[in-house]
Amino acid sequence: MIGRAGGRADVQWRDTAERYGAVSRFLHWTMATLFAWQFAGMAIKEIVGRTPLTRFWVGSHASVGIVLLALVVVRLGWALAQRRRRPPYRAGAAGLAARGGHFALYALMLAVPLLALMRAIGQARPIAVFGITLRGPREGEIGWLTAPADWLHGNLAWLLLALVAGHASMVLVHRRRGYDIAARMIGRKAPPGIRRQARRVAPPST
Ligand code: HEM
Ligand code: HEM
Repeated sequence: MIGRAGGRADVQWRDTAERYGAVSRFLHWTMATLFAWQFAGMAIKEIVGRTPLTRFWVGSHASVGIVLLALVVVRLGWALAQRRRRPPYRAGAAGLAARGGHFALYALMLAVPLLALMRAIGQARPIAVFGITLRGPREGEIGWLTAPADWLHGNLAWLLLALVAGHASMVLVHRRRGYDIAARMIGRKAPPGIRRQARRVAPPST
């Protein structure tokens, strides 16, 4: 991701056919960390019940979820802008499955927080993000805004977790078969273009 040309660090911001660039990687790993926070908080609350720790953890759930919603919108825009540059899918069934899996991840990353936000808007209680009140309490509930999340938010969220587990396992399966796709998202080596350029402009070694 980072190459050196004449002593200057060249960050590969955009994607290439060999690997994802810094922007895609930042979005992927920041969001993966925040998703882990969301799922761990809810899972621990289920297991140990309400304690001061889970109250804090679950207390941050809506705020972190809204940050994730904003990030997924940015990520979708970036993915569309980079679609011709990023590592291509393989031909055949494996490529189709990977494409379908990524599409489903995007659909759920968008639907899960969006449904919850609709519910928050429809509910009577105030809406606050990281302690900042965006809207005070309102009179009554708007049923069509709250009902979809009551049915689907939790179920779709656990489905997303199952898909993420499948997604991460596929990375390991590919690695075992000698096809290292992890290097596209975590590899440190500069892409061939940057390495060639670095060799051309680097001062002769002493
Ligand atoms: C993408 C981000 C999000 C993820 C991964 C996520 C995940 C989850 C999970 C796993 C549960 C537990 C469901 C259960 O008890 O079976 C849950 C519940 C809940 N979430 Fe989220 N959530 C996200 C965003 C949000 C947002 C943005 C809000 C509010 C604006 C929110 C509000 C709630 C509430 C109130 C509950 C408890 C009621 C329920 O189960 O529906 N979540 N969430
Ligand atoms: C341990 C966790 C994870 C690992 C090891 C991992 C690994 C990877 C790797 C290696 C790629 C590149 C695959 C390729 O080009 O074929 C990738 C892409 C992708 N990952 Fe993950 N990932 C993880 C977690 C997540 C999570 C939590 C999400 C979303 C909820 C996610 C969504 C995606 C998506 C949508 C792509 C396609 C590229 C993009 O649009 O950003 N991943 N992941």
